[in-house]
Amino acid sequence: MDEQLKHELIHRAFEAREFSYSPYSHFMVGAALLAKNGTIYTGCNIENAGYTPSNCAERTAVFKAVSEGVREFSAIAIVGAKKGEISTSVTAPCGVCRQVLYEFCSPELPVILARTEDDYLETTLGQLLPMGFGPSDLA
Ligand code: THU
Repeated sequence: MDEQLKHELIHRAFEAREFSYSPYSHFMVGAALLAKNGTIYTGCNIENAGYTPSNCAERTAVFKAVSEGVREFSAIAIVGAKKGEISTSVTAPCGVCRQVLYEFCSPELPVILARTEDDYLETTLGQLLPMGFGPSDLA
C-alpha cells in the first residue's frame, strides 16, 4: 500500500479520535476507512450511559459510508489510547467490528493499527478474522 496514503489514513484516524465521546471508559478511538472511490470515511467511538448501545470507531466509519451508498473499501486505519495518553501498544478492532468489516471487505483488506503517526503495524482482515462467516456463506 502507498506510504503517503497510509500516513494520510493514520492522520485522519487521529483527527477523528478527537471527536470520541467516551465519558465512561475514557478510551478514545478513531478510525479512517478508505473507500475504493477514494473517499475517506472517519469514525470515533460513541459511548452511552446504558453502556450496551455504545458504538466503536470502526463501525461508525463503516456505517457512515454504507448509509451514503458506499460499500467497497480498500483499507482502514485505527488508533486508540486513553484520553491524554500515548498508548504503549496498538488498538486492534473488537470482534464485532471485525465481523462488520467482513460483511463489506475482502480478507485481504489492509488494516493499519497505529500507536503514533509513525509507529504502526499492518495486518489484514483475514489475519484478524480467520475462517470468517460472510455473505458468500449464505449465497
Ligand atoms: N473501542 C473502539 O471504538 N474500537 C476498538 O477497536 C476497541 C474498543 C471502544 C469501545 C469503547 O467505547 C472503548 O473503546 C473501550 O472499550
